[in-house]
Amino acid sequence: MSVIFHKNTQTFHICNAYVSDILCIMQNGQIENLYYGKAIRDKEDFSYLHEEGMRSQMSVCVPEPGILSMQYTKQEYPVYGKGDYRSPAMTIRQENGSEIVDFKYVSHEIFPGKKPLKGLPAVYTESEEEADTLEIRLHDSVIDTDLILSYTVFRDYPVITRNARIEHKGNSKIRLEGMMSASVEFPDMDYEIVQLSGAWSRERYIKTRKLEMGIQAIQGLAGTCSSAEQNPFLALKRPGTTEDIGEVYGFSLVYSGNFLAQAEVSTFDMTRVMMGIHPQGFSWELNSGEEFQTPEVVMVYSDRGLNGMSQTYHRLFRTRLMRGKWRDQARPILLNNWEATYFDFDEEKILHIAKKAKEVGVELFVLDDGWFGTRNDDYQGLGDWFVNRNKLPDGIAGLSRKIEDMGLKFGLWVELEMVNKNSDCYREHPDWLISAPDRFESHARHQHVLDFSRQEVVDYIYDSITKILEESSISYIKWDMNRYMTEPFSRTAKPEDQGKTMHKYILGVYDLYRRLTERFPDILFESCASGGARFDPGLMYYAPQTWTSDDTDGGERQKIQYGTSLVYPIVSMGSHVSAVPNHQLYRKTPLSTRANVAYFGTFGYELDLNLLSEEEIEEVKEQICFMKNYRHLIQVEGDFYRIMSPFEGNDTAWMVVSRDKKQAVAAFYQRLNKVNASWLRMKFRGLDEEQLYEVKWDEQVLRAYGNELMYAGIPIDREILNKKGGDFASVLYTLEAVQELS
Ligand code: DGJ
Repeated sequence: MSVIFHKNTQTFHICNAYVSDILCIMQNGQIENLYYGKAIRDKEDFSYLHEEGMRSQMSVCVPEPGILSMQYTKQEYPVYGKGDYRSPAMTIRQENGSEIVDFKYVSHEIFPGKKPLKGLPAVYTESEEEADTLEIRLHDSVIDTDLILSYTVFRDYPVITRNARIEHKGNSKIRLEGMMSASVEFPDMDYEIVQLSGAWSRERYIKTRKLEMGIQAIQGLAGTCSSAEQNPFLALKRPGTTEDIGEVYGFSLVYSGNFLAQAEVSTFDMTRVMMGIHPQGFSWELNSGEEFQTPEVVMVYSDRGLNGMSQTYHRLFRTRLMRGKWRDQARPILLNNWEATYFDFDEEKILHIAKKAKEVGVELFVLDDGWFGTRNDDYQGLGDWFVNRNKLPDGIAGLSRKIEDMGLKFGLWVELEMVNKNSDCYREHPDWLISAPDRFESHARHQHVLDFSRQEVVDYIYDSITKILEESSISYIKWDMNRYMTEPFSRTAKPEDQGKTMHKYILGVYDLYRRLTERFPDILFESCASGGARFDPGLMYYAPQTWTSDDTDGGERQKIQYGTSLVYPIVSMGSHVSAVPNHQLYRKTPLSTRANVAYFGTFGYELDLNLLSEEEIEEVKEQICFMKNYRHLIQVEGDFYRIMSPFEGNDTAWMVVSRDKKQAVAAFYQRLNKVNASWLRMKFRGLDEEQLYEVKWDEQVLRAYGNELMYAGIPIDREILNKKGGDFASVLYTLEAVQELS
């Protein structure tokens, strides 16, 4: 792994064993991209990859007889107004109204390791040997401003991370009206674009479409979160690429606020991918001496299909984005009372539910919404972070002690960024809402957004929640956030700073997370936003797991978890077994399938176990035993493989294989049952071809070699599916390496 600079040819080669990114300093001082893709051997001169030629209507940006034109050139950080008519990576409005900028190379620095980003989450290294970083400094002499483009290449992964920074030195003010984290160019357009799109309760469905000339973009403008509608991720894959073979380029933005991710294809078949904070509503004034730092983009190259890309994201995010005590640990099996009680509970009811949970082997009890202020429904109470003594006479301190005395850990739900108008917090601080003067204050779920762009608001919330956390015994926090932003306006910001509000809001959220995770390093944080509207790498830096979706139906969850796994590690997916009929879909799925899906995540329950039959309770006990035995493999150690896609047919299949290929767990799920069905085989992935495995499922046992299991597969036994109820039935397989009999 290294960053090489060839002085004679002014070429940078950012590379490791898997990937190469080759840049060079052009005649006009800007940085050109010569190549990005599978690793190629280094050499001094790649200048033949610069494509140039006189064309009609071409704007030339160097003195004659030069013919360099930005119109047809692959650039590292393109701007508008110098002859390039595609979308720019940055717009800087100057005091005279001009938005022309011209950043030219001045210097660069290459150093081992990776620097943290100020105030922003980012992937990190634990030792300098893990990565090398290149920072290229460019300068615009008219406004006296530096642009720093930063690249880090990891030794062990096909990963390059990028970000950009502005340092303004000049005396005049400048205004950033858009600044992307990275822009990446490809010389052709023979790609499909892959994105994760959805909505509440059907988050992160995989959508794939052919790249066409023009702009295809996804965006999040929810203000408070990356959103359930679009995830801050996109990939370009070759049309023939499958889960297992072919090339993919992934782009993931480590950010939780408004974002733009787009691919623009020029009429010369060149593709430009850009990603960063969405320019809508963003306007950032910089005075002399001030800086602006963009979030980071994590770029993954795979020539092993979509599974290859996902496995890289999974390993990197699990070990170099997640942090703290829980990063390398299997997660506790929890029971959450939300779908068991909603707001209707008191201490007695909670203890009754917790007692049963303890009996079956649950390790952590989580008290969800409704424990504070006058929170008896969702019209009131948010903002008042003190206990409701009518429901819990001994407070959270008393309840948490009683739960711990049962032998369970205790966890608590909060929604720190929000306020109901019916709350003491609002009555005392009506000006703390994000809302615009003289405009109707739009509401969602009867609540409003607190202005986290203001330090005093964040401080107040920090103090009130810290008090609860200190006086009680709390091992886990579910940090919820249940609405998008409207009327984005900060009551105390100057008119010229209103365009900072939404980004500063997210920085405020990150700051509160930082302070709470530093002060309570043992607490396991789970992020949540009306289910999965905040499933992004930004939040993963602070909270190592996220509630994947409010949709807990065993069938629907297959799609949601399959899509989420495109980028995010299995251990980050909050996944629970809930009651039937399901509360979102009114569908009944077998208890075994609900567990077989939830195993591929953090695993827990979201129901009152007292309402289950004796037989079901026995099944639950077995499920918990299974998960305790396999969670280290599934959550920490294994590689996840998608096998059959719920977006393509009736069936879903996936599996996890240990790094040493000695152990695996796989699952097959069907949606509707089929009569007189065709034959179908479960073909495993990622095994050692020559290894003999013992495969167990239901009452069956088979000994077979890795290559048999992967290429011939095991026939799906329709009788087993019928016995399990047919529709939404599933099969769970365990595989253990065994010695051959001599
Ligand atoms: C939305 C979350 O997704 C649910 O799990 C639950 O915590 C509710 N909020 C509580 O209001």
